[in-house]
Amino acid sequence: MMCQDVHHSRFTFHDWRSQNCNMKKLIVFAGVILVVFAFAMCHKATEFNETGYDDRLSGGGLATAFDATSKAFTHAVDGLGERDARVHTLGDKAFEQTFVSSPAPIFGGLGPIFNNVSCISCHHNDGKGTPSFGTPTSSMLIRLSLTGNDEHGGPVAVPNFGLQLQDQALFGVPCEAHVKLSYTDVSVNYPDGSTVMLHKPDYQFTDFYTSMPGSFMFSPRMAPPVFGGGLLENIPEQTILSFVDQNDKNGDGISGKANYVYNPYAKQTELGRFGLKANTSSILVQVATAYQQDMGVTSFVQPVKSCYGQSQYVKTDGYDLPDSTLKAVTYYVQTLAVPARRDVKNPDNVAGELIFNQINCSGCHRQTMTTGVNNTIKQVSNQRIHPYTDLLLHDMGDDLADNRPDFLATGNEWRTMPLWGIGLFEKTNGIPYYLHDGRARSIEEAILWHGGEAKKSRDQFMQLSKSDRDMVIKFLKSL
Ligand code: HEC
Ligand code: HEC
Repeated sequence: MMCQDVHHSRFTFHDWRSQNCNMKKLIVFAGVILVVFAFAMCHKATEFNETGYDDRLSGGGLATAFDATSKAFTHAVDGLGERDARVHTLGDKAFEQTFVSSPAPIFGGLGPIFNNVSCISCHHNDGKGTPSFGTPTSSMLIRLSLTGNDEHGGPVAVPNFGLQLQDQALFGVPCEAHVKLSYTDVSVNYPDGSTVMLHKPDYQFTDFYTSMPGSFMFSPRMAPPVFGGGLLENIPEQTILSFVDQNDKNGDGISGKANYVYNPYAKQTELGRFGLKANTSSILVQVATAYQQDMGVTSFVQPVKSCYGQSQYVKTDGYDLPDSTLKAVTYYVQTLAVPARRDVKNPDNVAGELIFNQINCSGCHRQTMTTGVNNTIKQVSNQRIHPYTDLLLHDMGDDLADNRPDFLATGNEWRTMPLWGIGLFEKTNGIPYYLHDGRARSIEEAILWHGGEAKKSRDQFMQLSKSDRDMVIKFLKSL
């Protein structure tokens, strides 16, 4: 974008020059300076791509960051004003901050029961988490409910446990339970004879602090990346709804359904976008609920402790989190840039993308859309982006099911995961894990778990030759 602005001003200079011959030398000099400036600005983009700026390079339009290191997901969008940059930095600090129990002058209010002590301890480098429980980097949580719907169409809380199992607690307080995660191997055979070993998770709960109804449902979820949040929040509702094909009129086996969820702050039902079942409608509510449920920290949006209604509830006065901190962390997520693609013109990647489209992975992982107008954050306003998601729910088959409905999402349905940045998880996480519960240890395993509406695509992927499968995966690694 910078490049275009600079070129544009050179053209206006040109028109003006024809009427002002005396100034010719000065103008030529200024022109040279401008061209040099333009090259300097464009260099940032071209270092990722030998043939110049390419639309497909930018994951997030203006909100694209050109960094392919372990810090690729941690960058603010370019061009924030001084005040906005300060709010982003404040949010960044709070995102990384370890909270402690009250009383504390700042960053207090942790617990009494919680899942982890900071946002970053689950969202590693603003990316994905690690599938484990009970360690400082454990990034999973278990959602809970009983059968039925509450008065807003949402899941029904389990008495004495609520909607989330908190497996950590302050000293002297019992946590709600401990979770043990183990795996069994499942082998998958390709028609060409090669075999991949998948591992299927199994969860065991021990040490419930009080009796748990036998009929409880649970949904294990691992932290997804948080970058690009402002762009996802700005995709027009009509765009997302235009992808819905609930009765599969076009007969491709893919339906796609919107989730509608209750926003407890706005007190109304809204289109769901965030969370692994599109179970939250806005970043503000997502962040406030993370503070409340994952860390036990209350705010003006979620003012009661996560253990409200439970035997360990202790009433406290006021909120734990200053309003300005909640707003800053929300702004931080809204202004995190999306990493640029690498090696866009590499022939394998071009071929891999073609196959990805041919076997209709793109039926759910939608490549391109344009965000709506946003008058507050211009970098996420009206941007052509490549998130590789439709933000809709899809039946992904019994093997991936959690069997726990969440608003309109059934126990088999999950939100299409955005694939932007997926090729950098090895950098941002060291050992990357994929899918809602981190069960897949590679992109290939993630694809092989696809079932339900995605079964046709998965089967077509399995029919490909080894070198074609490798090209699809190589293409995904360039995102
Ligand atoms: C215990 C681990 C954990 C902690 C701590 C945590 N998160 Fe999350 N985060 C998750 C999980 C799991 C999800 C998916 C939730 C769901 O599907 O309902 C999520 C989802 C999100 C999303 C939505 C991303 C998307 O695209 O759907 C955002 C934004 C987010 N978290 C921000 C935060 C912030 C800010 C904090 C700190 C206040 C935080 N999280 C703390 C695990 C965690
Ligand atoms: C019917 C919709 C649909 C189709 C078709 C589909 N996907 Fe997915 N994809 C999803 C959903 C939903 C998830 C999240 C599932 C979960 O977390 O359990 C997902 C997750 C993924 C992931 C894991 C992402 C991550 O960050 O963990 C990869 C990789 C992926 N898909 C690649 C593909 C490829 C390649 C194809 C084509 C062979 C494909 N998908 C076809 C809906 C689809």
